Amino acid sequence: MKILIYGKGYLGHKFYEYLQAQGEEAIWGSADIGNLELVRADLKEHSPDTILNCAGKTGRPNVDWCEDHQDETFYSNVTGPLVLMKAAQETDTHLAHLGSGCIYQGDNDGKGFSEKDTPNFYGSFYSQTKAWSDQMMKNFPVLILRLRMPIDANPGPRNFISKITKYDKVINIPNSMTVVEDLLPATHELLKKYATGTYNMTNPGAIDHETILDMYTEIVDPSFTYEIISLQELEKHIKAPRSNCILDASKLANEGIKMRPVEEAIRDCLEKGFK
Ligand SMILES: NC(=O)c1ccc[n+]([C@@H]2O[C@H](COP(=O)([O-])OP(=O)(O)OC[C@H]3O[C@@H](n4cnc5c(N)ncnc54)[C@H](OP(=O)(O)O)[C@@H]3O)[C@@H](O)[C@H]2O)c1
Repeated sequence: MKILIYGKGYLGHKFYEYLQAQGEEAIWGSADIGNLELVRADLKEHSPDTILNCAGKTGRPNVDWCEDHQDETFYSNVTGPLVLMKAAQETDTHLAHLGSGCIYQGDNDGKGFSEKDTPNFYGSFYSQTKAWSDQMMKNFPVLILRLRMPIDANPGPRNFISKITKYDKVINIPNSMTVVEDLLPATHELLKKYATGTYNMTNPGAIDHETILDMYTEIVDPSFTYEIISLQELEKHIKAPRSNCILDASKLANEGIKMRPVEEAIRDCLEKGFK
């Protein structure tokens, strides 16, 4: 397959390298995704089978940036995906888009949020833009891949394990998370089928911060210590509230596409990359 990837960031690079290694023809899109003429030119030049949108504003050092840069965030997270959808429709090209599960809050009375549940978290501007694009595109034949709190076996500033081991104080709330080593082959399966619709791309189950940090202490650094704080305490130090939620990952599993249980997959990352 020829896969045109937008967004040369953390996840774009992971997908590019993985798909190349699988023998697919991954190529970088050069357009600003909000510019229809430039996107059309990319499609004309490359005629891809699939467009994979990994572009978006995620904020540096974190999503609080999006509160102060709402025009840029809206442009890249809402206008851009809609422009890609228009260009994909014109050329009958499959489109896959990286969405987010950070459009929910809570565990939906223990059931987890399914792909059909309406977003219920608009606490940050970043989450608002991800919810808007998700809800607009779900009515069209687009593959929406909802991720949460990506983790992989390489320590780095975008890796959730690296993030929470660098904070002095952390909250302790169960969450759904996405282990990138499982996300990549699972997404590849969906791309090969030219799947459309929304998928929660989180590892089955939920895990809290304390469980991850205790595994880190056990596997990586026995001298590591941390302090748990309440959500109320955390919210004194951040600009926008954060989503903490559990997604129902059964749709993907029911289609025979496997992601490992979250605790097993995180343990594997710690053993392979953090030791
Ligand atoms: N990492 C997470 O925690 C997470 C979780 C769930 C979902 N996601 C979603 O996954 C996607 C990729 O995330 P990521 O972590 O890889 O983010 P990232 O590291 O910030 O990479 C995003 C890339 O998109 C580029 N970009 C922004 N606006 C663009 C535009 N208009 N046209 C072309 N490129 C543009 C950025 O370039 P600049 O740096 O120049 O802006 C950056 O290279 C995002 O949509 C994000 O919402 C991420």
